[in-house]
Amino acid sequence: MSTPSLAEPLAGEVAVVTGAGRGIGRAVAEAAAEAGATVVGIDLPGDDLDGLPGDLGIRARGVDIGDRGAVSAAFASIAAEVGPIGVLVNCAGVICENRPAEEVTEDDLDRLWRVNLKGTFFCAQAAVTNGMIERQHGHIVNFASQAALVALPHQGAYTASKGAVMSLTRSLAIDWAHHGITVNAIAPTFIWTPMSAPMLEIDEVRTASERRIPLGRLGRPRDVAGVAVFLASEAAAFITGQTIPVDGGWTAGEPGLAL
Ligand SMILES: NC(=O)c1ccc[n+]([C@@H]2O[C@H](COP(=O)([O-])OP(=O)(O)OC[C@H]3O[C@@H](n4cnc5c(N)ncnc54)[C@H](O)[C@@H]3O)[C@@H](O)[C@H]2O)c1
Repeated sequence: MSTPSLAEPLAGEVAVVTGAGRGIGRAVAEAAAEAGATVVGIDLPGDDLDGLPGDLGIRARGVDIGDRGAVSAAFASIAAEVGPIGVLVNCAGVICENRPAEEVTEDDLDRLWRVNLKGTFFCAQAAVTNGMIERQHGHIVNFASQAALVALPHQGAYTASKGAVMSLTRSLAIDWAHHGITVNAIAPTFIWTPMSAPMLEIDEVRTASERRIPLGRLGRPRDVAGVAVFLASEAAAFITGQTIPVDGGWTAGEPGLAL
C-alpha cells in the first residue's frame, strides 16, 4: 500500500460509518470525510440521514443493522457501487431506560443485544467479506463504552452489551489479523449527544459527571471522532484488539480524593 499523507490519513478509502445520522456517528462520518475517505453513512431509514453533509460528499443508506440480510445486501451494494470497503466504524448503538438490575426486562436485553452486539457483528462480517479480506487490509473500529470498564448504575443490560463488544473486538482482531485487518474499540465517557442528553440534562448528573472527570468537562462528539479516524488509519496499523478509553481521565482515577 502507498503511504497515506498525515493530512488526509484516510485518502482513497471507502469508509462505512453506522449510526451516522446523529451524535458521535455523525461526527465520525464528517471527520472521516475530512480525512479523505469516501464515506457511506448508515442509519435507520428516516429523516436523520437527510441532514448528512452533502458538501463533504457523504452518501447515506437507511439500514437496520440488526437485520442481517439487510446489512449483507447494503454492504454488497456499497462495495459494487462505491468500491471495496476499507474502513468500518460501528457507531450505531442503543441504550434503555435506567432500572435497577432486578427490574431489567427481557425486552431490554433483546433490544440491546440485537443492535449493540449482533448489529456490530453483522456489519463487521459484511465489511470483511466486501473488501477487507480481498484486499488483505482493513480497519474496524467498534463502540464499546466506559460502562464496559466501570459499570454505569442501573444500566445492567447496556453495560453487559458493551462488555460483549469489548470481547468481540478482541476475538475479531485475532481471527482476522492474518488478513491484515485491525479491529479496535473506543470506550467513551459521557459525550453530549441525543443518547446521553436525557441523563445529562439532569443538573445533579451533569455536575457530578463533570466533577468526576479529571479534565473537568463532558466529552464532545469531536473528542471521539479524531480517535476513530486515528484507529481507522495507517498511523494505528500495529494496534489491534484494544479498547481505548476516551474519558477525560475517568478510568485513570478519582480526582476528588483530597489526601
Ligand atoms: N453518548 C455517550 O455518552 C456515549 C458513551 C459511551 C458510548 N457511547 C456509544 O457511542 C455510540 C454512539 O452513541 P451516540 O451517543 O452518538 O448515540 P445516538 O443515540 O445519539 O446515535 C446513535 C445512532 O445510532 C442509530 N441506530 C440505532 N439503532 C440502529 C439500528 N438498528 N440500525 C442503524 N442505526 C441505528 C440511531 O438512529 C442514531 O442515529 C453508541 O454505540 C453508544 O452506545 C455513547
